[in-house]
Amino acid sequence: MPDSALLKQHVHRTYPTVMRGMGVFLFDTEGRRYLDGSGGAMTASIGHGVEEIAGAMYVQLSTVAFTYRTQFTNQPAEDLARRLTALAPGDLNWAFFVSSGSEATEFAMRAAIAYWREIGHPEKSKILGRQLSYHGMTLGALSMSGHAARRPDYGSLLHPFPVGPPAYAYRYARPAESEDAYAERAAAEFEAAVVAQDPSTVAAIILEPIVGAAGGVLVPPAGYLARMREACDRLDILLIFDEVITGMGRTGEWFASTGEGVVPDLLCIGKGLSAGYSPVAAVLMRDRIVEAISMGSGVAPFGHTFSGNPVGTAACLAVLDFMEAQDVLDNARARGAQLEAGLRELASKHPFMADVRGRGLLWGFEFVVDPRTREAPAPRHNAASVFVDECFKWGLIVYPAGIAPLNNAVVLCPPLTITAEEVDLLLYLLSQSLGAMSAKDFLALP
Ligand SMILES: Cc1ncc(COP(=O)(O)O)c(C=O)c1O
Repeated sequence: MPDSALLKQHVHRTYPTVMRGMGVFLFDTEGRRYLDGSGGAMTASIGHGVEEIAGAMYVQLSTVAFTYRTQFTNQPAEDLARRLTALAPGDLNWAFFVSSGSEATEFAMRAAIAYWREIGHPEKSKILGRQLSYHGMTLGALSMSGHAARRPDYGSLLHPFPVGPPAYAYRYARPAESEDAYAERAAAEFEAAVVAQDPSTVAAIILEPIVGAAGGVLVPPAGYLARMREACDRLDILLIFDEVITGMGRTGEWFASTGEGVVPDLLCIGKGLSAGYSPVAAVLMRDRIVEAISMGSGVAPFGHTFSGNPVGTAACLAVLDFMEAQDVLDNARARGAQLEAGLRELASKHPFMADVRGRGLLWGFEFVVDPRTREAPAPRHNAASVFVDECFKWGLIVYPAGIAPLNNAVVLCPPLTITAEEVDLLLYLLSQSLGAMSAKDFLALP
């Protein structure tokens, strides 16, 4: 008789049982302590065990826990929509709430298609994306994802939406190509791929302003996102930014797109929105999207049972209050600079640790077997997973990323509330784990 009825991600593996969380630390039932260097899956952005959030959720739970959006609106959802649209750039003046990042990107997909249908262009229904991207695991979201590892099992059920290359300077920029020249070329290549699909049939393109788990934090060259905005305007297609990872302060700005001064037509957020205290995600929309619906059918694209539920939205409001009161974005920038400096120093000692890249408190690097040729370790070695397991032994949680065979990467994105001493501890644990990695045959440098 197995001792568990819970299906785990890796069925033959034994997982520790978490007992409690406090700040950047998690504790298991064996008394082990882990520094949560990835916020789980880039989610626990204000740390664990914050009493104020629990308090706000308790108050809402005991007032009214659930109402349904076709019957009632509720104050926490109204307030959260106001707060988020005030933080968002441009005329992203509308919000719709869902319960996961996948639901958010699928809602954005439906909203983009609805927009064109409402203004008389039902033929515009494709949502194009890029290779090396991830927008979620439901079949519409996976259709938009250029994720070679996750797509094959569902082949015939998926649309072939990812068409363009990502902006990925370490692997795709030409020797001596300037940042600006690469930004122009990468944007032109994506645009050419979109044009080849006949823009008159395309509703939108979707992209992560900084590619998270699919690429191991790929920061585009300056000017790339603005060029994609111009291309969308020229081709008359909508621009969707998936900021499920990068939104809500992760990059030291409320949104990664704010830093670039680019306003998408639809903006998806999740993960850090509730900082893990409740399953909530959202889509922010520009006026033109909602005006088209308002002047057309008057009916928004459908949502889900838990869309905009009062407990989830109350949790997000409490997270926002906490972030503003504690100046969490300032901390993200300061601790991000400290983490970057530490990572660069480690990379100078471990040549198999390549291309340290990131912004704010979202950092990644990838493994190479030869820094001169930039050859990635063979997929059979699972370098990123081996490293993540090594870190776990040291009591540090980091996130495996990248898509083999192109890259084997690791993401670091601790809670935005991390202190300077805790960043030092994170770097110390990382350096111990890297030391153990240097003994692995497949990383033995020539
Ligand atoms: C960029 C991005 N979009 C969407 C999703 C899907 O979010 P969820 O797992 O909450 O459905 C993820 C999840 O990792 C993500 O990283």
